[in-house]
Amino acid sequence: MYTQSFNVPDGTTPGPQAVPAVADPALQAHFDSVIDADGKIEPRDWMPEAYRKTLVRQISQHAHSEIVGMLPEGNWITRAPSLKRKAILLAKVQDEGGHGLYLYSAAETLGTSRDQMFDALHSGKAKYSSIFNYPTLTWADVGVIGWLVDGAAIMNQIPLCRCSYGPYARAMIRVCKEESFHQRQGYESLLTMMQGTPEQKAMVQDAVNRWWWKCLAMFGPPDDNSPNSVQGMRWGIKRISNDALRQKFVDATVPQAEVLGVTLPDPELKWNEAKGQHDFGAIDWDEFWQVVNGNGPCNKERLATRVKAWDDGAWVREAALTHARKQEQRTMKEAA
Ligand SMILES: [Fe+2]
Ligand SMILES: [Fe+2]
Repeated sequence: MYTQSFNVPDGTTPGPQAVPAVADPALQAHFDSVIDADGKIEPRDWMPEAYRKTLVRQISQHAHSEIVGMLPEGNWITRAPSLKRKAILLAKVQDEGGHGLYLYSAAETLGTSRDQMFDALHSGKAKYSSIFNYPTLTWADVGVIGWLVDGAAIMNQIPLCRCSYGPYARAMIRVCKEESFHQRQGYESLLTMMQGTPEQKAMVQDAVNRWWWKCLAMFGPPDDNSPNSVQGMRWGIKRISNDALRQKFVDATVPQAEVLGVTLPDPELKWNEAKGQHDFGAIDWDEFWQVVNGNGPCNKERLATRVKAWDDGAWVREAALTHARKQEQRTMKEAA
């Protein structure tokens, strides 16, 4: 899915560095010139320590968000209403797992290990997108997540395809193609339900009411309360501000809601002719920070599910390692 559109301070620390961290003026000047020319920084290039740390935090939070993001929808795989919907949902949830793996790989190129990242997630030190700490109450939630949550993710992630860090930018190109399918399948599922019974229509509207504001918060704090954004822009990690992305999302989504026949739950939402964009109401940031800080309805459940999956998979990791060791020994014996 989704991205952590912004990155919030958490308890993670980057691992050993692969390149010297000393700020040699010549190295710094070369780095700055690459950034100024809109070029790419690659894993072996020198980079400022703060740039590395910011990327490790952002990419690992993004990876965790993809993996935890499998859970709310994964709960509906066994209850999908038809074989077609089940096949689509299975494919989507598997895609999210793949996104997590590309992103963990991208973060590893910065000198942090996958074990360190998993440890940070499982111990509760690392953050992931708060949107996944809400429950999926009905089948309509699956469609709304595709339409709005993956839709917001696309808005966030397309600019990341131009991120200055090469491995992250390249991972995002494929991720964005898959997110586009996620958004469309969700919207198409909702269109079908909106042609159904009054109960189905009410279920879609209820899901939209519950997810709308949370999706707007996915873009992160307002620009005047987002101190890291300026540095992220300077480094070419962040290309478009939180508020600008949020506005683009609202403007793109309103006509889609009209076609669908649902109301977006904001009495202040209206077209502003002078600005050429929509005005909309205030986001409840207190609720947002409550959930970021661990007090959402599903924070504990999501973390416990991930920890259990990791623990349950221990025998697979051990068996794979034992098998690899045996093969290595056999190869060495044959070579001797
Ligand atoms: Fe994804
Ligand atoms: Fe997705």
